[in-house]
Amino acid sequence: MEAFIQITQELLGSEQVRMMGRWKHHGPITTLDHSLFVAYLSYRAAKALGLDERAAARGGLLHDLYLYDSKDKSAHPGWQCFDHPRAAARNAEALTELSEKERNIILSHMWPLGGALPRSPEALLVDLVDTFCAGLEVFRIYHPSRLRKRLGVQPLTAGT
Ligand SMILES: [Fe+2]
Ligand SMILES: [Fe+2]
Repeated sequence: MEAFIQITQELLGSEQVRMMGRWKHHGPITTLDHSLFVAYLSYRAAKALGLDERAAARGGLLHDLYLYDSKDKSAHPGWQCFDHPRAAARNAEALTELSEKERNIILSHMWPLGGALPRSPEALLVDLVDTFCAGLEVFRIYHPSRLRKRLGVQPLTAGT
């Protein structure tokens, strides 16, 4: 967990990432808790598989950085499935220097439903981990706020 925190430190402390705590993503789970869950599991899996764990951790953490209420139809122009990876990539680019691989991880995380094609094993991995985490969240098998607390990340809610 220490190495994961070190890799993502700059992002974990940023307002943009902590702001994801304002919006719910799957039922009662915030986008921040979901993103930390995806980032950490992607990091662990990438490490175990001998892949680029830094790109998996950072791409996983930023994959849903769209920063709006997904239920608010006026917040984005089209279909959430296509729109939110693009919005997340835009916001991530403004926040940090993204590698081409990290950018593709974000843009392709909804594949094959929409968006770009995954162009690396790490992109495919984050895509799979995202689906796996969403399943655990939707069926209330795991509440990732426990992981957020262990990581020591404070959500930035409206008014804080
Ligand atoms: Fe997403
Ligand atoms: Fe996601």
